Amino acid sequence: MDNLAQAYQAYFPVGAAVTLASLRSHRRLLRHFNSLTAENYMKPMYMHPSEDEYNFRYADKIVDYAMQSKKRLRGHTLVWHNQTPGWFFAQGGEKASRALVLSRMEDHISTVMGHFCAAAYAWDVVNEPIEDDDGKGLLRESPWRAAIGDDYIAHAFRFARKADPACVLFLNEYNETAPAKRGRIAELARALRADGVPLDGIGMQGHYNLYGPSADEIAEAIEVYAALGLQVQVTELDISLFAFEDHTVYTQPPQELIELQAKRYRQVFEVLRRYHRYVSGVTLWGLADDTSWLSNFPVKKRKNWPLLFDDAHNPKPALEEVLQAARQPLAR
Ligand code: G3I
Repeated sequence: MDNLAQAYQAYFPVGAAVTLASLRSHRRLLRHFNSLTAENYMKPMYMHPSEDEYNFRYADKIVDYAMQSKKRLRGHTLVWHNQTPGWFFAQGGEKASRALVLSRMEDHISTVMGHFCAAAYAWDVVNEPIEDDDGKGLLRESPWRAAIGDDYIAHAFRFARKADPACVLFLNEYNETAPAKRGRIAELARALRADGVPLDGIGMQGHYNLYGPSADEIAEAIEVYAALGLQVQVTELDISLFAFEDHTVYTQPPQELIELQAKRYRQVFEVLRRYHRYVSGVTLWGLADDTSWLSNFPVKKRKNWPLLFDDAHNPKPALEEVLQAARQPLAR
């Protein structure tokens, strides 16, 4: 069987999010990917559980594997409102001052990026900073924003560039193809660039489903971000079998949905390949359907089948479609 990363070699690296467990349990699938992201272990709750304690033990094992197998590694993630211990924002039972939170942010970024310098070529420096709801402003609430102010994002990118000048720095966001949110992402990115903030790219998380976004919406989002002089990576691709509000439960996935999913995957990869000049990487958020985060979201313990390999790690029709798409002549 063809190898996914090889099929797209002329266009962009194809990666997957992994855990320590999946590096073992899903070993035979890893040949399809030439880039890895730690699904959780590089997040602050693991990296930096308390102020005086950094823990690189788990992430280092993923790094070792990536280096041995000559796969690229994306760093994920430094500054996020989620999976970040409360100590960053507290001091002696009170809220920590802006100056203290800023210095903790700099220490975190410089230590973590310094540690992974040789391995991680790109980092999601700030994850999900944009407001979801239209009319509620540009930035979402976040403990970082509450402690530092709206310029927490600019500071994070400046600290990151200083920590590792060679690293490609991303702002990573979901619902990134929805026109209103896309507009807010572009507005922030434009303002950051105008201020000389070292932002290199937009991470389009790519949590899609059978019904949206359309190929045109994905293409338009890439065009909007690329027009700002930014590179684009799809950082967390998966295609849920369910529309967001649909809470249906299946014990087995209906075959017609699996076929529809294959067509959707093909459509998405066709767009990404068409825009390969701007798209510098595509990462799937997991290796196979048995371990996807979507089997716990948005409905707890509701099984989903969003990836290219099934529960038994066998290729799904989606994989074949994605491989076939890579063989088509590319329109100029
Ligand atoms: O820490 C506990 C651990 O002690 C316990 O043994 C284990 C048992 O379930 O749970 C552990 O915490 C889980 C954590 O992942 C680490 O495995 C949480 O319950 C679980 O909610 C958490 O989910 C992760 C989620 O981020 C958290 O927001 C998912 O695995 C991960 O796929 C997901 O990834 C995010 C990206 O980072 C950013 N974009 C969205 C994407 C999907 O939510």
